[in-house]
Amino acid sequence: MPHLLHIDSSAVSQGSVSRALGQSFRRVWQQENPDGVVTYRDLGAAPVPPLTEAGVTAGFMPAVAHDERQRHAMLLRDELVAELLSADALLISTPMYNWSIPSTLKAWIDQVLVNDRTITFDGTPGPLTGRPATVVASYGGGYTPGAPMEQHNHVGPYLETVFGTGLGMDVQVIAAQLSLAPRTPAMAGLIPLAEQSLADAQAAVLERARQTALVPLR
Ligand SMILES: Cc1cc2nc3c(=O)[nH]c(=O)nc-3n(C[C@H](O)[C@H](O)[C@H](O)COP(=O)(O)O)c2cc1C
Repeated sequence: MPHLLHIDSSAVSQGSVSRALGQSFRRVWQQENPDGVVTYRDLGAAPVPPLTEAGVTAGFMPAVAHDERQRHAMLLRDELVAELLSADALLISTPMYNWSIPSTLKAWIDQVLVNDRTITFDGTPGPLTGRPATVVASYGGGYTPGAPMEQHNHVGPYLETVFGTGLGMDVQVIAAQLSLAPRTPAMAGLIPLAEQSLADAQAAVLERARQTALVPLR
């Protein structure tokens, strides 16, 4: 039975562009996989805590050597890691906050990247190698190739590093740009570009969801 892990991270529950893109992906994925299972985490509504000293040190020690604080910290890491490892496909929706990802998504990433369990540093392929990871993102401004702000985008490129370079996953980032144009008077002239970007992102999301649903199970 195929398994999708769907993570939302916008702090906003209503009118979120990234959440809407994630919903579109999930709807198509479920249509294509009627017996599929979706595990859902809403980091905006229910953030996971930041990684603590106990969590860091526990990740580098055998479980039998953990003290009480490390055991407690590792319970959460174990749960999150198990969710990720059991996913045939990963879907992350994220806004751009201050040129980067929300701190809630960063906290989740810090919790799930565990040495020798999800990520390896000795050159051997990790367990998630080749699995599809789809990032759907919403940026208030414009960060397309050649745009003046391109180099300040620390969302898509960063998540490609985490899931592609770090975990070996097959990553695609799909971003709707200029989402602030309709409600920012100074950006009024950019509204047609914003609408086009959103339409392009929606089309790309549907295509990626179909492709992802066809990926053979492990
Ligand atoms: C706290 C905060 C910080 C933001 N920082 C940026 C930014 O640095 N660059 C940008 O282009 N847009 C920025 N925005 C705009 C969001 O990226 C934009 O509204 C996006 O659509 C939010 O995603 P959502 O609609 O899924 O909530 C920011 C919005 C908020 C609420």
